[in-house]
This record gives sequence, C-alpha cells and structure tokens, in this order.
Amino acid sequence: MKTVILGAACLTLCTALFITSANAATATRGSFGALADGTRIEAVTLTNGAGMSARIMTLGATLQSLTVADRNGRREDVTLGYDKPQDYLTRPNYFGVSVGRFANRIAKGKFALDGKTYALVTNDGPNSLHGGAKGFDKRVWKIESISNGSDAKVIMSYVSADGEEGFPGELKVTVTYALNEKNELRLDYRATTSKPTVVNLTNHAYFNLSGNAARDVMGNLVTLHAERFTPVDATLIPTGERRPVAGTPFDFRKATAVGTRIRDARDQQIRYGRGYDHNFIVDGAPGNLRTAAVVEEPVSGRVMEVRVTAPGIQFYTGNFMDGTFFGKNQRSYRQGDAICLEPGTFPDAPNRADFPTARLNPGQTYVNSMVFAFRTK
Ligand code: BGC
Repeated sequence: MKTVILGAACLTLCTALFITSANAATATRGSFGALADGTRIEAVTLTNGAGMSARIMTLGATLQSLTVADRNGRREDVTLGYDKPQDYLTRPNYFGVSVGRFANRIAKGKFALDGKTYALVTNDGPNSLHGGAKGFDKRVWKIESISNGSDAKVIMSYVSADGEEGFPGELKVTVTYALNEKNELRLDYRATTSKPTVVNLTNHAYFNLSGNAARDVMGNLVTLHAERFTPVDATLIPTGERRPVAGTPFDFRKATAVGTRIRDARDQQIRYGRGYDHNFIVDGAPGNLRTAAVVEEPVSGRVMEVRVTAPGIQFYTGNFMDGTFFGKNQRSYRQGDAICLEPGTFPDAPNRADFPTARLNPGQTYVNSMVFAFRTK
C-alpha cells in the first residue's frame, strides 16, 4: 500500500516537474508598432527558463533583439538594430533581418538559368545585393504559428511572386525560430518554387556580445573552422579562387582577436573588404550541422558558437557603418561595432558552376539551418 502511495506521489511530482521544465520556454505575441504608411507590425518574443529571450518582428522576419546573460548573470541585448520598425526601411542596414531571395552579391545583377538571362535590380555599385531594392527584409511576413514547450517557436512565412525583383518562379518561404533551454537559438529557412530559380536565404544579425553595443568587437576572439576562403575583386565579387587561409590575415583556425590583422593593408583582400567582408568555406560536409564559428567577448564572458548546414559563411565586421546609424539604446554604430556571420551558399553562386549550387527546382525543398548557441566563460 505504502509503495503504491509513494509511487503515486512520485508520479504526480515527477509529472509536475516534467511539465514545469517542458513548458519553461514560452512564445508571446504582441504589437511592435506600425510603419509610416500605417501597416501594423507584430513581434513574437521567445523566452526560456534561464531568461534568454529573442524578439522576432514580422517586418523582414527580423531578429530585433537577443537578450543573453553575461558571466555575472546580467542580461543584455547582443544584437544591433533599431527601436522602431520604420527605421529598418528608412535606414536599411540589414540588422537581424531575413535576407532573400538571394543573400549576398550577384555580379552585375545578372544570371542565366536554362539558357535564359535574368536581370535584377543593381543596388550595390554594379552588383545586386541581398535580394535587390525590395528584398525579403523589407516585406511583412505572416505569423503561421507560435508554440511553447521544451523550445519556444515561431514560424513566419512569405510568398515571393514570380518575377519579383527579377527572379523567376513563385517562391514560398518559411523561417522557424526556436529557442531551447540550452540557450540555443535555431533558425531553419525553407523554400519551394513553382519554376527553376536561385535561392540563398540567411539571417543578417549583427552581433556585439559586449551587451547593448557597449564596446567595439576588435577584442573579440574569433575562431572560424575554415581552411579556405573565397577572395573577391574590388566590387566584392568572388574571383573563383578558393584560397588557403594559412599565412594570411584570414587564418582564424585558432581563436584570434578580430583587430589583430584587420588593418594589414599588405593584403589586398583586407583593402578590398575594408577589413573582413568575405565568404569562408566551412570545413566538413554541407547539409550537416557543424561548428563554423566561435566568438568570445572576454570582458562580459559571453561566448557564441555558430553551427551551420550551409557550405559557406560570410564574415563581415560592419565595415560600412559610419556613425550615422542611431540604433537601440541611443547608440551610434561605427565601423567594427559588430560581427556578422551569415551562413549560406557562396556569393555569386548563380554565375559559377564550380560553386555550391543556388538552384532550386519545383518539387525540391530548400533548407538552410543555423544554430546560435550561447554560454559564458
Ligand atoms: C555584405 C556587406 C554589406 C552588408 C550590408 C554583408 O552581407 O557582405 O558587404 O555591406 O551585408 O549590411
């Protein structure tokens, strides 16, 4: 009898414990103001039991803030961005946005598919950048679902019309943001198309692990699991070479402070990029989640590990920020104030048969998954 009662008590207690921990991560939906034309923007906040939280707004399916504890438990925002949605349109800088239909550059805004040439809007000198004049970052996405549980999730969707920004095929896109109890934020981009097209979807978070952009990132220790990178021309289009990083300022195979070699003007690639603005070829087999990068901010003790399924990762140090962007917490953002790590296929892949393909056919599902995992040291 005793055993039965004890057993029942344990069952109740254990179930309660299980439910408490299983329900610790929550997703909350709310308003995030409106654009100047009156369009209402919503945001979903994912929060885990440890107090880490991610806010995702429907404009651009954007990671608008990411609050993470430092080694003393102080929770601060580790991404750059704006307080109001309209600023993301008026002062676009791709802060935390979902980029598409083609993240990164396409040379001269042109590519051919099955013998037909497509012309895109050129919005970056002679090239097309991040999907053109009105990419996915400037569209309002729809909230498909939110859920609580062992991880808190939101799924957002966007349908890109056939011919939008010059790209062929109607593209149906979703992004899932999921935050778990291990302080891991996972993003899964998926897409299907009605006609053969090219796709490269990614997230463009600007990380500053010091918290509220207190310090620049020059002292951040970065590890990149990449034996090679793709050098570029003066307009930041890859030359086609896959250059070993060994003996160059691009060797981050061992943790190295960002600022150590960023001014090494002897390297033409540093001059072209104004610092780091390059695609690194992630070691290991694409399609499997593997660690591409680790970033450590020594003062706060925050450490971020980035796992990706993509073949490449763009490492960009905010070189074009010039102090004229006023972001969250009334901070002005300057060159070297953030690290972007954008997983995807290689820049200009639609024009390079020897790069991992960007082609998507009807009947196939495009997937690009990435995990941003946080801990302290
Ligand atoms: C590009 C930079 C560009 C930035 C815009 C990055 O992905 O590599 O060259 O200036 O996006 O935010």
